[in-house]
Amino acid sequence: MNLADARAALRSARRIAVLTGAGVSAESGIPTFRDAQTGHWARFRPEDLASPGAYRRDPETVWQWYAGRYADVTRATPNAAHHLLAGLEREKGSGFFLATQNVDGLHARARSGSHGGRLVELHGNLSTARCETCGTVAPLPDPETFTPPPTCPVCASPMRPNIVWFGEYLPEDALEAASHAFRGAEVALIVGTSGVVYPAAGLALEAMGAGGVVIEVNPEATELTPYLSHSVRDTASRGLAALLEPDQPR
Ligand code: APR
Repeated sequence: MNLADARAALRSARRIAVLTGAGVSAESGIPTFRDAQTGHWARFRPEDLASPGAYRRDPETVWQWYAGRYADVTRATPNAAHHLLAGLEREKGSGFFLATQNVDGLHARARSGSHGGRLVELHGNLSTARCETCGTVAPLPDPETFTPPPTCPVCASPMRPNIVWFGEYLPEDALEAASHAFRGAEVALIVGTSGVVYPAAGLALEAMGAGGVVIEVNPEATELTPYLSHSVRDTASRGLAALLEPDQPR
């Protein structure tokens, strides 16, 4: 399959499923997950912070890290890639499904999920917290005034970051909805993910297995590349523009 075929498949598809990873937010200035941690956090590996064990051992440090990432993503803005995907949803309506591994909330801020399609945040969202006792999920206050840890508005217990940590299960309903969408997709787009973390990465293979066309957008080859119909070797914004922009009049 070449780029022209991929463009034609996207144009004619009624059901499209999209999986995004940290690469789609790279152009918004948010480091990808496997970029080196910067500054004070350079001495930590994400796995040492984003885990139930780390939180049990040292909740203050884990909340400090998340409060810093929450402030960073609140300052960031959606980039062209987020807006191109929101535009694709406007075109496809209820046939559009976007599953993201990102917790930065930028797809929602680009209004994905508001044009008849569905947005699922598989790994949670930095701008909310979850009560350790009653499970209530509540938005965090403005980053400028937020001092962790938040307390539950319902039962006043401490709240944890509303993030799916290493070793934890993804929300069953979200994963089931995503799996159904990828199995039923005529075309799946895999944008800006290294494809190394399951079950999210498995969605691409489910789409392939069900006979869908699966197109990757990534400046580098990934573990999924050999199994996919086509790879656009470019950044998310340029690659999606190449796939989605209308044909230029001759
Ligand atoms: N445009 C598109 N892709 C990009 C860009 C860009 N501008 N810059 C980098 N990339 C690609 C990288 O080549 C890499 O394949 O984005 C991918 C980022 O990979 P990771 O850092 O592994 O992030 P991600 O795939 O989202 O990680 C998945 O793993 O650590 C867990 O829960 C965490 O959600 C995360 C999950």
